[in-house]
Amino acid sequence: MTTNRSTRGSLDAMEVASIDQLRAHQLERMRWSLVHAYNNVPHYKKAFDAKGVHPFDLKSLDDLAKFPFTTKHDLRDNYPFNMFAVPMSDVVRVHASSGTTGKPTVVGYTHSDIDDWATVVARSIRAAGGHAGDKVHIAYGYGLFTGGLGAHYGAEKLGCTVIPMSGGQTEKQVQLIRDFDPDIIMVTPSYMLNLADEMDRQGLDPRELALRIGIFGAEPWTGQMRNELEQRLGIDAVDIYGLSEVMGPGVAQECIETKDGPTIWEDFFYPEIIDPNTGEVLPDGEYGELVFTSLTKEAMPVVRYRTRDLTRLLPGTARPMRRIDKITGRSDDMLIIRGVNVFPTQIEEQVLKMNTLTPHYELTVYKDGNLDKVDVSVELKEAGLSDSAKSDVAAELQHHIKSFIGISTKIKVNDPGTLARSEGKAKHVTDLR
Ligand code: DLL
Repeated sequence: MTTNRSTRGSLDAMEVASIDQLRAHQLERMRWSLVHAYNNVPHYKKAFDAKGVHPFDLKSLDDLAKFPFTTKHDLRDNYPFNMFAVPMSDVVRVHASSGTTGKPTVVGYTHSDIDDWATVVARSIRAAGGHAGDKVHIAYGYGLFTGGLGAHYGAEKLGCTVIPMSGGQTEKQVQLIRDFDPDIIMVTPSYMLNLADEMDRQGLDPRELALRIGIFGAEPWTGQMRNELEQRLGIDAVDIYGLSEVMGPGVAQECIETKDGPTIWEDFFYPEIIDPNTGEVLPDGEYGELVFTSLTKEAMPVVRYRTRDLTRLLPGTARPMRRIDKITGRSDDMLIIRGVNVFPTQIEEQVLKMNTLTPHYELTVYKDGNLDKVDVSVELKEAGLSDSAKSDVAAELQHHIKSFIGISTKIKVNDPGTLARSEGKAKHVTDLR
């Protein structure tokens, strides 16, 4: 694999192309991708035929709307390898997403796919402010999850020195951060909080480290969380987005100079926003479900893959390519509490407004008779608060949640260090209904 030690700071041609050049490039790649999927994956042939469309019907990018969606269900039905478009002998790697129920979703990569993935992750790290020669501590899990290895190959391709720590072993993570003094950390924001707590325990002031940049993703996180992490760690915190079905980390990356939502690497992944109920394509700027069509993937092309992530498309700023707004959450994470739609991130915003509380929180949703109830468990920063001071904290948070989100909650205020800590993607919700 080639590295870019000599090309510090220079952008890929497509990162600076005009919109017209980009659209022409996308159309050419999309034609190839649709033909490739149709000719080599029985599922796509069947789905296109059933809708009466053929890849040659794609005359413009807008024609994509005529093609059928692909869902997680389709991937499960074709478990493990039937969505692959190349012989197994050309598949050099598989990853799988755990999923809470049923079979995992399996994805595959050819050698060229792995190289493209490294290209978009290298581009992501550069957009985040990284460059050749930086030391990158990777605390995304290595293994079937795409986070660790995806970040790894991209950091190497950019010419960084990789510290492949993976997730877990929190004490050791902090020891290595102290000893190796990385410039960049790649980790979920919730695990970063856990690492920051461990730094406190070890008497390490993160602001004195060389650490400059945190590339945080794999789960939703709010602007308030960005402030918290930046102040606590003395770094720039930027958002990386991706999903295994489409590639892994590096589908989109926030640029450090603007910090205004991840730029989609549109020369590899074509985005659409649809109305999740009707499937209709929505204009840029409107909120809906994010859908991706892969433009280069050989082993497992995806056509109009429904991510279930809710966001909107925004015009380019630091790059000509479009951005996504911060993901509010997945449609599956949306809680409906007595008719009000609530995302865990909305609770996170309110918790982070309280300077007496840590950013850790847990929600338990249950039925009391016919009524939906929500308990919010939060954690104090300081030990030794009196019961009446605790009730004041609870009352204040309850009031904020009621006035900003519109739901009634019961708040449980816990002592410092008592809520479960994340080592990867945080689990904030237990729904007992
Ligand atoms: O989480 C890939 C990844 C690894 C992305 C490391 C970024 C960093 P999956 O396990 O397939 O892949 O989960 C994908 O995670 O559909 C979103 O719901 C959520 N997600 C990923 N990045 C973000 C983000 C990886 N920056 C699912 N903000 C996606 C919000 C995110 N949600």
